[in-house]
Amino acid sequence: MKRSIILVVCAMSWLFVANTHAAISYQPHKRVHNKIDASEDKETVFVTSLMQKMTLAEKIGQLSQYVGGELLTGPQSDALSDSLFVHGMVGSILNVGGVEKLRKLQEKNMQLSRLKIPILFAFDVIHGYKTIFPTPLAESCSWDLNLMYETAKAAAVEASASGIHWTFAPMVDIARDPRWGRIVEGAGEDTYLACKIADARVRGFQWNLGAPNSVYACAKHFVAYGAPQAGRDYAPVDLSLSTLAEVYLPPFKACVDAGVKTFMSAFNSVNGVPATGNRWLMTDVLRNKWQFNGFVVSDWNAVQELKAHGVAETDKDAALLAFNAGVDMNMTDGLYNRCLEEAVHRGQVDMQAIDAAVERILRAKYALGLFDNPYRFLDAKRECREVRSANITALARKAASSSMVLLKNDHNMLPLSKQTKRIALIGPLANNRSEVMGSWKARGDEKDVVTVLEGIKNKLGNNVTVTYVQGCDFLKPSTQEFSAAFEAAQQSDVVIAVVGEKALMSGESRSRAILRLPGQQEALLDTLKKAGKPLVVVLMNGRPLCLEKIDKQADALLEAWFPGTQCGNAVADILFGDVTPSAKLTASFPLTEGQIPNYYNYKRSGRPGDMPYSSTARHIDVPNKNLYPFGYGLSYTSFAYGKMQCASQFDADGVLQVAVDVTNKGNVDGEEIVQLYVADKVASMVRPVKELKGFKKVFIPKGDTKHVEFTLHARDLGFWDNNMQYIVEPGTFTIMVGANSEDLQQQDVVWDGKEKQ
Ligand code: BGC
Repeated sequence: MKRSIILVVCAMSWLFVANTHAAISYQPHKRVHNKIDASEDKETVFVTSLMQKMTLAEKIGQLSQYVGGELLTGPQSDALSDSLFVHGMVGSILNVGGVEKLRKLQEKNMQLSRLKIPILFAFDVIHGYKTIFPTPLAESCSWDLNLMYETAKAAAVEASASGIHWTFAPMVDIARDPRWGRIVEGAGEDTYLACKIADARVRGFQWNLGAPNSVYACAKHFVAYGAPQAGRDYAPVDLSLSTLAEVYLPPFKACVDAGVKTFMSAFNSVNGVPATGNRWLMTDVLRNKWQFNGFVVSDWNAVQELKAHGVAETDKDAALLAFNAGVDMNMTDGLYNRCLEEAVHRGQVDMQAIDAAVERILRAKYALGLFDNPYRFLDAKRECREVRSANITALARKAASSSMVLLKNDHNMLPLSKQTKRIALIGPLANNRSEVMGSWKARGDEKDVVTVLEGIKNKLGNNVTVTYVQGCDFLKPSTQEFSAAFEAAQQSDVVIAVVGEKALMSGESRSRAILRLPGQQEALLDTLKKAGKPLVVVLMNGRPLCLEKIDKQADALLEAWFPGTQCGNAVADILFGDVTPSAKLTASFPLTEGQIPNYYNYKRSGRPGDMPYSSTARHIDVPNKNLYPFGYGLSYTSFAYGKMQCASQFDADGVLQVAVDVTNKGNVDGEEIVQLYVADKVASMVRPVKELKGFKKVFIPKGDTKHVEFTLHARDLGFWDNNMQYIVEPGTFTIMVGANSEDLQQQDVVWDGKEKQ
């Protein structure tokens, strides 16, 4: 039985997660929280006096967001009519981009509305605006927080130069199920890493808050959207409060700590209560416990969808439920405008709550300087200058190659020699411009995309003959081009097959039950294999796939994800050795779909699956292990880990130093992501077999050794119980260090719980 010194740190509990953020080199220009300074006083005077002039309808108008321009509205979305402007009923418009169009909308608002309150323009700038960076899941595999800060910042620079004030990003939903298509938009399956990335991305988007080269970020989708039943998008989520607190909430708390200005409520229900009508989540947790002082927007039509959930009978019930739960702004369905005024008159909605929500939104507009100049972000010259600049293009290339994970490299097949004479380049993604940008390509333009074919030619010029054959489509059954692909392969020195998913096979509402390569692509690889030439497979996809068969066929396997605008140059940089791969997986790749969910930090069982008899937590037909584990990725060099160094006890301050020497044993310089995991050996609740608690990405020149150090605080080794209290228990912890979640050395360390105060 565990010694029962239990530190229940209820009051402080939510702060603990915040304190786990290690310093990273970038710094925000200014904090956005809790400071009343002289300028904020001016803001208060302005906003208060404006609100005195506003009618109730105009106030509710500020809480309403519409899809603008010629964009299609959903079946239930309200159209953006002139009459809405006339009556001051448009607070924000989403997903219209470009200075010219936005200027027209703002002008219309300034001409038609009585109080001329500027409109806030929002856009889904998820992984780039015009210059498209790798998808967020891809980029998370770089484990490079500075890089993710820089790409978010660059996306903000481009979007704001194009008139956007606010992005609906980052998505910080933990995803442990690769069937769920939106795994592509997040940072993978691990909460510790996801918190760091959430922090970096929020600070990146909001890097110069208030200035017209930065945008408001939005932490979405609050909360647990990544855990739908069977991986089906929008499906209900049922999970323990302990798992909610420990796995799904912390990345959102990290966003609050980073100063995020807005939140978006999720589509799904959480333990029977839809997130968009969930007062406990949005008011008790987000506003009261976490002291979030920005505003919350619903997801697209999510207010009206409370009726489909079966928790509201009428539109008015739905609007009341969402607003009273804490949703300040209503996206697209227009229900606040239609229903809230009457509800206030009937006393079903508190006028003070309306005023508080309106005030939050007016303050957000004020802080952007829009009341001084509603056209402040609308400068066509700046748009020309700052969109697709050379610096941002170079960053996109770096981000793409830093995100590519080398999964297999038999006989050091890669890098290929630049003297290679004949390449057969095959596959539906080998010369593709649109799919390689992935889902949410914002205003990315196919014309700017470098295909793999072009990237190889850019690198090797006329020294090489590249025979390109598409081979097959993603979905169509035709195998007509197989013979041409086979012939090209036979005539080549090396075959490069670029295969994977179409962009919109992952992303919103793109759940898949079968995670093998779609269409005829596996058969295409069978055909290429028969040519008997070295086979390099480059994968582009939005989620972990089941690659057992391909892993056997390929001599080298590169997970390139959807690399974005600089796709081809980045792939060529890796294939020909100008960049050494350094990325590692942030989501496990299962052997087969039946194992899902199969994340690395699963909880223990009374009959663990690795026991040598059959009545254990396992399938009888497939082992429990993944094909490629969390944290896994190869390099063109190899790293040797020395013996891990750490004391047998935490010190009197509850601190433990852990160190390891890592040597680059190969012939090229490289970067290694050194990982630290911890397991609590005995606790009052069942704990995961291991949890990531630290990582360092280090550059090590060939032949060199780097001493890598970690500092662990016992207070960070606690857990959340089902009352959502954070508990830290003394005892023995297994400390693990290594190259990925399976390749680890370990040592037991004791914490006696007598931390000095
Ligand atoms: C998505 C959000 C997105 C919003 C606005 C919704 O369907 O779930 O992530 O930000 O649309 O486009």
